[in-house]
Amino acid sequence: MSVKVFDTQEVQDLLKAAANIGADSGNARLQQIVHRLLGDLFEAIDDLDITPDEVWAGVNYLNKLGQDGEAALLAAGIGLEKYLDVRLDAADKAAGTDGGTPRTIEGPLYVAGAPLREGVSRIDINEDADAGPLVIRGKVTDTDGKPVANAIVECWHANSKGFYSHFDPTGAQSSFNLRGAVKSGPDGAYAFHTLMPVGYGCPPQGATQQLLNGLGRHGNRPAHVHFFVTSAAHRKLTTQFNIEGDPLIWDDFAYATREELIPAVVEKTGGAALGLKDDAYKDIEFNVTLTPLVQGKDNQIVSRPRAAATA
Ligand code: DHB
Ligand code: FE
Repeated sequence: MSVKVFDTQEVQDLLKAAANIGADSGNARLQQIVHRLLGDLFEAIDDLDITPDEVWAGVNYLNKLGQDGEAALLAAGIGLEKYLDVRLDAADKAAGTDGGTPRTIEGPLYVAGAPLREGVSRIDINEDADAGPLVIRGKVTDTDGKPVANAIVECWHANSKGFYSHFDPTGAQSSFNLRGAVKSGPDGAYAFHTLMPVGYGCPPQGATQQLLNGLGRHGNRPAHVHFFVTSAAHRKLTTQFNIEGDPLIWDDFAYATREELIPAVVEKTGGAALGLKDDAYKDIEFNVTLTPLVQGKDNQIVSRPRAAATA
C-alpha cells in the first residue's frame, strides 16, 4: 500500500488539531513537542509503510510497558538516556564547562533517603554468601585538585544476584541495602564498605526485554556502581564506574561505559581489621573531580521521578 499522505493539507491540519497548535489554552511547549513527535511518527508510518497491525502492536506494547513500570528501563535500553549524556557533554564542551569526572547515566534504580554518614559508611546490611567484601574509597576534589570537604557522595549498586534493594523481586534485601550516603572529610575523602556487585539483567518477562529480544539484543549490564556527588559550590555529578574485568564492559545494554570510569580492582588483605566479612577483600579507588557552579548555579540537577524511602 505505497501511498503518501503525510504532506497533504488534511494530515497537516490533523496534526495541528491533535497538538492544539496556536490555541490560547494548554501548554505551548507541550503542544510544540507533541506536534513534532506526532508528525515524525505519522511521517515514519508513511515512509516505512507501517501497517495497522504494526501500529496496534506498538500501542499495545505501550500498555505492557506501563503495566510493567518499565518506561525508564526502556529509556536506558534504547539509548535515550545515553543520548541525553551525549548532549550534556557537547553542551559542556561548547560552554567550556567540561572537565571533571565524566558523567554517565543515572538509570532507573536510585532510591532517595539513604542514611548520611561521616566519611565512611558500611552499606552491606543483608548477608550475601556469594559476594566478597569490597571497599570503595577515594577523594573528592575540584578541577584545581583541591579537596572538597562536605561533599555528599551517594552510591547504589546490585547484590550478587544483580538485584537492587527496593526493586528486588525476591524480597531478599532490606531498604538501603547496598545504598549509602557519606559526607567527605576535610581532605575530601570518602569510603563505602560493601560487597561486590554483579551485572544487572532486565526482568526477563518485562516489556524492555521483550523489545530487546525482537531487536536481537541482550538486556544485561556489566557490574557497576552508581554515584551522585553533590557539594554546595559545585555542580552535581551523576556517574558510575564499572567493575574492571567484567566481560560486558564494552557491551552494556544501557551504553553507560566510559574509558575513564573503569578503576582498577586491587586485591588486598587486612579486611578483618576494617570489620569486613573476610580478611581478603577487593579495593577500588575512585576519585571524583567536581566542576564549579556556572554563574552561581548548578545546571546539572535533573528532575525526574525517583523512588524514596525512609531508613
Ligand atoms: C537499567 C538498570 C540499571 O542497573 C542501570 O544502571 C541502568 C539501567 C535498566 O534496567 O534500564
Ligand atoms: Fe545500575
